[in-house]
Amino acid sequence: MSGNQAEIKEQILKKFEEVFGDTKGAKVYFAPGRVNMIGEHTDYNGGHVFPCALTIGTYAVARKREDDQLRFYSMNFEQLGMMESSIVDLKPEKEADWTNYPKGVIWAFGEKGYQVPAGMDLLLYGNIPNGSGLSSSASVEVLTGFILRDFFGFGVSNQDLALIGQYSENKFNGVNCGIMDQFAIAMGKEGHAIFLDTADLSYEYAPIKLENARIVISCSNKKRGLGDSKYNERRSECETALAELQKVVGINTLGDLNEEQFEAYQSAIQDEVRVKRAKHAVYENQRTIQAVEALKNNDIELFGKLMNASHISLQNDYEVTGIELDTLVEEAWKIEGVIGSRMTGAGFGGCTVSIVKTEAIDTFIEQVGAAYQEKIGYAADFYVVEIGDGPSVLSDVL
Ligand code: GLA
Repeated sequence: MSGNQAEIKEQILKKFEEVFGDTKGAKVYFAPGRVNMIGEHTDYNGGHVFPCALTIGTYAVARKREDDQLRFYSMNFEQLGMMESSIVDLKPEKEADWTNYPKGVIWAFGEKGYQVPAGMDLLLYGNIPNGSGLSSSASVEVLTGFILRDFFGFGVSNQDLALIGQYSENKFNGVNCGIMDQFAIAMGKEGHAIFLDTADLSYEYAPIKLENARIVISCSNKKRGLGDSKYNERRSECETALAELQKVVGINTLGDLNEEQFEAYQSAIQDEVRVKRAKHAVYENQRTIQAVEALKNNDIELFGKLMNASHISLQNDYEVTGIELDTLVEEAWKIEGVIGSRMTGAGFGGCTVSIVKTEAIDTFIEQVGAAYQEKIGYAADFYVVEIGDGPSVLSDVL
């Protein structure tokens, strides 16, 4: 399905009626996806990130029920049909597939002292490409929390919605993610990226004024697969490196070190691979701080160079890129009019983010697309994206 918001609304309401009988008492909601401009794999290392919410995301039609039942339907996974469950005794189950995300959030609200008193009918439609690394799962989590707050009047802020979403992903879905994705989605602001210090959640909105350039997402169409287990592995490598460094220097996180300090203390890390992982975390954090400074000074060229350096570090030191993402980025770098290009998100598949001069966008899509197809054997997809707001209600009660 494509189309503008009004068309999407019409189609999802029609589908809701088809699946759940009628739309009486239902409401329409939206939560964005996100892209991270720079600051990758720093959010669980006490560093900075610089993501923004997108105008593509997840739409929901939701209706409160009188009983304990949960009925779910996704227009992205129509083959699964309607999936049913109950708010009582929620547990992650393989067969529950994507519904483990909304279920996890309902469970997490309960864990945080906000008992969800009744079930719901929930239909979702996402126009974030599945498995693209633009955080479709975090979008569903924040959206579910946003709906629960609207239904039951829970006294939680948008920042709390991000934390509850992350908690559910960590504890219910078993992915040890940081706070970046849920925070970017819950706190998104049109035209701005969020400079977030993950050590204390202090943040600042920075306008992204690209003038003659746009943000282009190149989607590798390689599904993450083993990504989640590799993600958890990187996280524990960083934790071990931190513990080794703490024997020689009083720090709380890798984000507490600058480059010089890291070079002075790195010999405390007992393994070469862990040195590389920690080096990435430290240098990437410093790059992110510099990149936001560059943006404030209107130095978009420097911002782009720092994006490129981020990719090289993720490729060589953090080793989370792979041939698909490297091909997309290396082909992008060859094109005149590309200000910066890097992988974004967890890596191991997913997509890249590039800042491309408007007049070079067609050439970019054509040339990167052709080179990718030739080398990898299947096509990449390209999206010119806009930075949007956080979650919103799109209708009154029907
Ligand atoms: C995933 C996680 C985030 C973050 C990125 C890497 O998107 O969900 O918390 O760690 O990877 O920067």
